[in-house]
Amino acid sequence: MEQTPVAPQTERRKIIFSAIQPTGVFTLGNYIGAVRNWRTLQDDYDCIYCVADLHSITVRQDPASLRSHTLEAYALLMACGLDPDRSILFIQSHNPDHAQGAWVLDCYTQFGELSRMTQFKDKSARYADNINAGLFTYPSLMAADILLYQTSYVPVGEDQRQHLEITRDIAGRFNGVYGPVFTVPEAFIPKAEQGARIMSLQDPTRKMSKSDPNPKGCVTILDEPGAIMKKFRSAITDSEARVAHGPGKEGISNLMGIYSVFTGKDFAAIEEEFAGKGYGDFKTAVGEAVVQGLEPIQRRYKELMADKAYLEECYRRGAQQAMNLSRRTLEKMYKKIGFLHA
Ligand code: TRP
Repeated sequence: MEQTPVAPQTERRKIIFSAIQPTGVFTLGNYIGAVRNWRTLQDDYDCIYCVADLHSITVRQDPASLRSHTLEAYALLMACGLDPDRSILFIQSHNPDHAQGAWVLDCYTQFGELSRMTQFKDKSARYADNINAGLFTYPSLMAADILLYQTSYVPVGEDQRQHLEITRDIAGRFNGVYGPVFTVPEAFIPKAEQGARIMSLQDPTRKMSKSDPNPKGCVTILDEPGAIMKKFRSAITDSEARVAHGPGKEGISNLMGIYSVFTGKDFAAIEEEFAGKGYGDFKTAVGEAVVQGLEPIQRRYKELMADKAYLEECYRRGAQQAMNLSRRTLEKMYKKIGFLHA
């Protein structure tokens, strides 16, 4: 019988891990700055994405809202193009390894280094009546999320950089004691892209955020077309009436970034397109591009939310797949530490 040739060793793809907290509908900033890139990464990496519900309880949550926000966040990730057949998409609390791993890593994380975390300092100032231990040890849970999957790259925004640094320190420390248990992850920095950081439409020096004091500053990816158009039409610009990018033109630059993302045009092309036209035309065009770009996401989201059984099937399968991977690392950690085999 003819010998079948051995399948060529397929190169294992590097692992990407990221997560988002279920705090309500994603903003245009979350979409452009994070989730949209997570979608693209699926082409080149083995991607693992989760809804970080465990992290969200470091701030008091209403149970019914947490439950619905978690399902919504999961459906939004899928609607934005994260594909449960290509990536692992799951809900953090569905895989108990995260909580178990975090406890172990807590014991390899120093009080001093947690005290230096700027997010802890900010949040303990903001929620002064609930400075709980979870808020303090938040970074070791995040380290568990990342390290349990032998992650190579973590796409994170500026605000989570320090948490990734501490994750690297924890991994290095653990490996130093027990040998190479963890892959030491690196931040994934997408190539300098236009529109990477989306600012408030009402105050272009501030990041777009749901807690914007002026609700017109923030567009969410489920906003109705009419609301989107209204927000863009009232976006803050400048008195120059010239569509161009640069200092003193933060408002227009921000709009150009958004327009660029949804049309694929670069800044030079946008300047040319609107040469001699007023800001009114430009703002309308940006609004229309956003409405059009979000339409398929909104449609898919509605379909998914109308099919809870399918969502359930996806997140259950995701948790199982996640656990199959994290289990290996957790078992290795337990063994190295000296826990008696169960
Ligand atoms: N802390 C992150 C945030 O608030 C979410 C998160 C949890 C995360 N675990 C993670 C991000 C692991 C990257 C990797 O945005």
